[in-house]
Amino acid sequence: FVTPGESNEDGSIIARDRLGYPIPASQILAQPKGTRALVAGIAGEPTYLAIAEDGKLDTMGIVDNCTHLGCTFPWNPNDNQFQCPCHGSRYAADGSVVRGPAPLPLKLVQVKVQEDVIWIFPWTKNDPRTGEKPWWI
Ligand code: FES
Repeated sequence: FVTPGESNEDGSIIARDRLGYPIPASQILAQPKGTRALVAGIAGEPTYLAIAEDGKLDTMGIVDNCTHLGCTFPWNPNDNQFQCPCHGSRYAADGSVVRGPAPLPLKLVQVKVQEDVIWIFPWTKNDPRTGEKPWWI
């Protein structure tokens, strides 16, 4: 049994809304492909989930915490970028840096859907954008 906000032994949690209620995958997937939905992720970190081209949730989630000084940022669908309002950093859809001052790509999490429940796991394998061990481990 896991109380809201706590994580399982493997560090996974259920994606929740601002009020702490679980968000069913079907609620997000009712929106158009390419949509970025913000949920409360691991340790309450705001996390973007994306609807992939195949109409499913992308297995890669992006943590909404700028690697420059930690601002949160919106998704700009016109530029297909995350754009930080604090000092102008820009990130591609996969969270890699397009323009600084951000020094590092955005932190990733793994996303899995099981019977309409969205699970978020810590990303522990190599960072697909750099091919290296993730900087956040
Ligand atoms: Fe995002 Fe500085 S905190 S650019």
